[in-house]
Amino acid sequence: MPTNPIFNPDGNDDVSNRSVWFGETTNLMQLNDVRYSWAVGLYQQMRENFWIPQKLDITQDVTDYWNLTPEERRAFDGILSYLTFLDSVQTCNLPHIKSSITAPEISLCMAEQISQEGMHNQSYQYMIETIIPSERRSNVYEFWRTDKVLRDRCEYIAGYYQRYIDSPTPENYFMALLADYMLEGMYFYNGFIFFYNLASRMLMPGSADIFKMINRDELSHVRLFQKLIPEAMATFTHSEDQIYEMFDRAVQYECKWTNHIVGNDILGITEQSTEIYTKYLANMRLKAIGLKPLYEGDLYKKSPYRHLERFSDTKKAGNTKANFFEAGVTSYTMSSGVTGWDEF
Ligand SMILES: [Fe+2]
Ligand SMILES: [Fe+2]
Repeated sequence: MPTNPIFNPDGNDDVSNRSVWFGETTNLMQLNDVRYSWAVGLYQQMRENFWIPQKLDITQDVTDYWNLTPEERRAFDGILSYLTFLDSVQTCNLPHIKSSITAPEISLCMAEQISQEGMHNQSYQYMIETIIPSERRSNVYEFWRTDKVLRDRCEYIAGYYQRYIDSPTPENYFMALLADYMLEGMYFYNGFIFFYNLASRMLMPGSADIFKMINRDELSHVRLFQKLIPEAMATFTHSEDQIYEMFDRAVQYECKWTNHIVGNDILGITEQSTEIYTKYLANMRLKAIGLKPLYEGDLYKKSPYRHLERFSDTKKAGNTKANFFEAGVTSYTMSSGVTGWDEF
């Protein structure tokens, strides 16, 4: 894949000459006339989502942590460990993906996404340092070293990104993009559900507050990739069968990990609800890029966790964020009338 030079005086930034990849950009951020106007609106939304983890009060969670069952505590630590991995690899991988994008309006969105992924890691650190006792903290960061299921999962996810770095072909770039879409669109959500479930039982409200902000950011990343993947399918050689196969494997890995760390031991979640939810997510993400659902049947048409929507807060146009048990507004968002945040 060609990567952008720092400055290309021979480039041509005319809108009629722009493309997501293989364009002739000068690399100046010429944003007055843009070809992909959706990117301008998306960037604006991403900026308006601005938040600071330390402004969210998680003191209640410090005591709640000891009122969790041992299984819930193990899941809490394990999910934080896994999410730290996801946001870490995104922070590392996205600059590689971005360096081949030749439409500055899309580069701008990805620059913001990279910043948000970095900040998500910092919000995990804030939770780990505040809630988890010091003697358990490094176990959260190091869990993958001793947990084989997590390690396999991490290696599977990182593998697609690494293949592109080792061999930067257009085919590997396409697969890395698709892997990004799966990470953004599927891999976080069983983790989010765990925290919303605890919040629905009045447990760990500060953590759930943080996760609903992360959830909102992640949905903006999903929207970015929902625009990029159809463009990529029109640009790069690929096979639809390969996409379906990748989705199916992603579902299997996601269920295997969730069953391992959550399983049937947490009130409100079962191995069956995990399977239904993950397949429902896969179908929804496939549909959003113009492909058919992979899993047939009414069972996979709706989320089994609709009762938790009020905790995710993604139905409320992504603006006003109030603490679960207080009325205090915890976001800095200024916009109103933002639509399209109803994916749960
Ligand atoms: Fe993130
Ligand atoms: Fe993300």
